[in-house]
Amino acid sequence: MIRWKMISFSQIGLVLLFSASFAWCRSLKCPGGKQCSNRPPVVLIPGDLGNQLEAKLDKPSVVHYICYKKTDQYFTLWLNLDLLLPVAIDCWIDNMRLIYNRTTRSTEAPPGVDIRVPGFGQTFGLEYLDPSKRSVDENKEYFLKLQLMIEEMAQRSGSPVVLVAHSMGNMYTLYFLNQQPQAWKDKYIKAFVCLGPPWAGVAKTLRVMASGDNNRIPVISSLKIRTQQRTAVTTAWLFPYAHTWPSDKSLVSTPSANYTVKDYERFFKDISYEDGWAMRQDTEPLVQALEAPGVPVHCLYGTGIPTAEAYRYKTFPDSEPEVVNGEGDGTVNMLSAVQCKRWIDQQKHPVRLVELPGNEHVAMLLNYTTVAYIKNVLFSP
Ligand SMILES: *[C@@H]1O[C@H](CO)[C@@H](O)[C@H](O)[C@H]1NC(C)=O
Ligand SMILES: *[C@@H]1O[C@H](CO)[C@@H](O)[C@H](O)[C@H]1NC(C)=O
Ligand SMILES: *[C@@H]1O[C@H](CO)[C@@H](O)[C@H](O)[C@H]1NC(C)=O
Repeated sequence: MIRWKMISFSQIGLVLLFSASFAWCRSLKCPGGKQCSNRPPVVLIPGDLGNQLEAKLDKPSVVHYICYKKTDQYFTLWLNLDLLLPVAIDCWIDNMRLIYNRTTRSTEAPPGVDIRVPGFGQTFGLEYLDPSKRSVDENKEYFLKLQLMIEEMAQRSGSPVVLVAHSMGNMYTLYFLNQQPQAWKDKYIKAFVCLGPPWAGVAKTLRVMASGDNNRIPVISSLKIRTQQRTAVTTAWLFPYAHTWPSDKSLVSTPSANYTVKDYERFFKDISYEDGWAMRQDTEPLVQALEAPGVPVHCLYGTGIPTAEAYRYKTFPDSEPEVVNGEGDGTVNMLSAVQCKRWIDQQKHPVRLVELPGNEHVAMLLNYTTVAYIKNVLFSP
């Protein structure tokens, strides 16, 4: 059995340090039930909020007297529903937010908050929700660990590795593959399975930045969680890209302005979050070129689920907008997911696009058709 417990809340836009995880395929059965002799190892790269986070506190101050100031041990910060209750949520937001330093152009946890990702290279961090903290341009250590892990897995199993990424994990994986020499990829990577990839960004991120999005955690008000969501560098990274989005399409309209892919600087100014513009400039170049990964690609994406493609605000930005829906998987706009098609002519390795009608962004991880497809990739010679 392939275990597919990882869960992603991409639209919330928390920055994850990321836990890659692998499952040796020992327990996998080949199609038809026979044991496979030559099963490739798998690396899972989850999306935003797709893995666990732990925190240990020794803070100079707290936002409310009930908040812990100091803890002796690490505790689960994500996901722990008890921490999302009224009042407790204020403590949580104060611990979970990132602080952006415009001089170093990097983020860090608030003073006295130590965040760690449990279980790098193991699956438990994914099977139950929780860990990470930094964006890709701050994640050099993560990429080195990922590279060494892939090499070790390939050596121990005698087979190149299959990378399976979901949601924003695809951006990390593409960035990672773009940094590796072709000879390294030919030796160590059998295939890259992209599930719900947001190659050209997603429209939903503008709402997250402007007014917050409590979609996944309805017990919290949007404006409240916005405080934490805005500081997540990945949200700015996933703003729609001008290489794909029509430049005359209004993503956000208000009584006094329209904002297209060309208007982000003004957008961040108007929502009074100019750090967001700096974060966008830091992250936009990372995979903007959509350079071919140079490995066999299987691009699986859901369609037929209403997916936000624009927002209309009566009061901007402190109110809930009216949503204009388009085609996609409920989170990733189809326009963005299908951009793997660019690589068909750009690399010698096969690039296959597979549309999965009726598959929602997160639910696709549990869909029989999706899982059967991945098994097929694993067991093909
Ligand atoms: C940003 O980082 C620099 C260099 O480490 C440091 O001197 C400065 O105090 C930091 N700024 C803030 C606001 O923390
Ligand atoms: C926004 O765009 C719409 C559609 O093009 C247009 O009708 C409207 O006047 C624009 N609003 C502003 C404030 O420019
Ligand atoms: C799984 O995906 C297939 C292909 O898109 C779809 O036809 C089917 O309805 C999905 N199954 C479920 C249970 O969502």
